[in-house]
Amino acid sequence: MNDYLTYQKHTRYTHFIIKACFYFIIISVFLISFLIYQKAKFLGISFFILISLIFTYAYFIEPYNLKVSEHKINFNFYFSQIKIIHISDLHLGAFLKEKWIKEVIHKINQLQADFIFITGDLMDRRKQVEIDRYISILGLLRAKSGIYAVLGNHDQSKEIKELLNSLEKIKIKVLINESEKISLNGFHFWILGVNDPYIGRDNLKLALEGIPEDNFKLLLSHSPDILRRIESKKINLILAGHTHGGQVRLPFFKTLIPFSTYKEINYYSSGLFKIKDSWIYVNRGLGMDNLPFRFLSSPEITVLKISGKKLE
Ligand SMILES: [Fe+2]
Repeated sequence: MNDYLTYQKHTRYTHFIIKACFYFIIISVFLISFLIYQKAKFLGISFFILISLIFTYAYFIEPYNLKVSEHKINFNFYFSQIKIIHISDLHLGAFLKEKWIKEVIHKINQLQADFIFITGDLMDRRKQVEIDRYISILGLLRAKSGIYAVLGNHDQSKEIKELLNSLEKIKIKVLINESEKISLNGFHFWILGVNDPYIGRDNLKLALEGIPEDNFKLLLSHSPDILRRIESKKINLILAGHTHGGQVRLPFFKTLIPFSTYKEINYYSSGLFKIKDSWIYVNRGLGMDNLPFRFLSSPEITVLKISGKKLE
C-alpha cells in the first residue's frame, strides 16, 4: 500500500473514530446529567437502552435493508412499456460491504431492465484512488438497452478523468450536460444528463440543444436542485438522487439535514412527484455519506415501468 493510500485509510478511520467519540460523549453527558438532576435511574437506563438499540439498528440493519420500489407511469406518447431501473448514491468505497453491493447488483440484473440509470455519487470522494476495484463491481451491471449515469458532487475529484475512462470501458455512458437519442421498438426519445446542480455545474440549456420541444425527454440529474430550472422546459421524466432520503430521519419529519439550498428539498427528498407535466422520482440511494447510519430511510432500487398510449 503506497503512502497516499495509507494516508487516505488513516484519515478515514480517524474521521470516523472522532465522530463516534463525539456522539458518544454528547449522549453520555446528556444521560449523566439526566440521572444526576432527575434522579430517575430507571428512566435514564431505559432511555440509554433505547438509544443503544436505535444506534445498533441504524448501523447494522437499516443500511442493508434493501427495498425495491415499483411505480408505473403513463405518458401521452405512443410506445409500449419500457422497464427502467433507477439507482443512486452508491458511494462506493465509503461504508458499504462489497459482498452486499454484489448482491444488490445481482438483484438488479435479475429484474432484467431495458435501461439502468445511475444518478451520481458512484464513488466516495475520500476513496477515489480505488476506482479500479469498484469499477469492476459496477461492470457486473446488465441492462438490455443501455446503462447511463450522471456525476454527483462526490464524483468530482482530481481522478475524474480516470473515473470517466473506467466507466466507458464497462459501457456505462456518462452524460455531462448532453443528450443521446434512443430508438426502442419504434419509439424515439431522448436521455439527457446534467452535471451536478448541487454544486452549480449543470447546464440544462446545453443538454437540450437540438432536441425538438415535442419529443419525449428523460432527464438524469444527481440533485433534485435541477427542479429550479425545469419550468417551461417540458421534461417528461426526471430522475434524481443525492438526498439519501434524508439518510437519518425522525418520525413525522422529513430530512434532518436538507443537503441542499433548494427551498423545497425537504418535500422532494424521496419518492414520486408531479410538477405540471413533469414526473420526478427522487431515489433514496444505496450508500451513505459522512456517517455509516441509516434510520427510517432504507436503501432503494427503483423499478419504473413507463408506458404510453397503445400503438395502433
Ligand atoms: Fe450521495
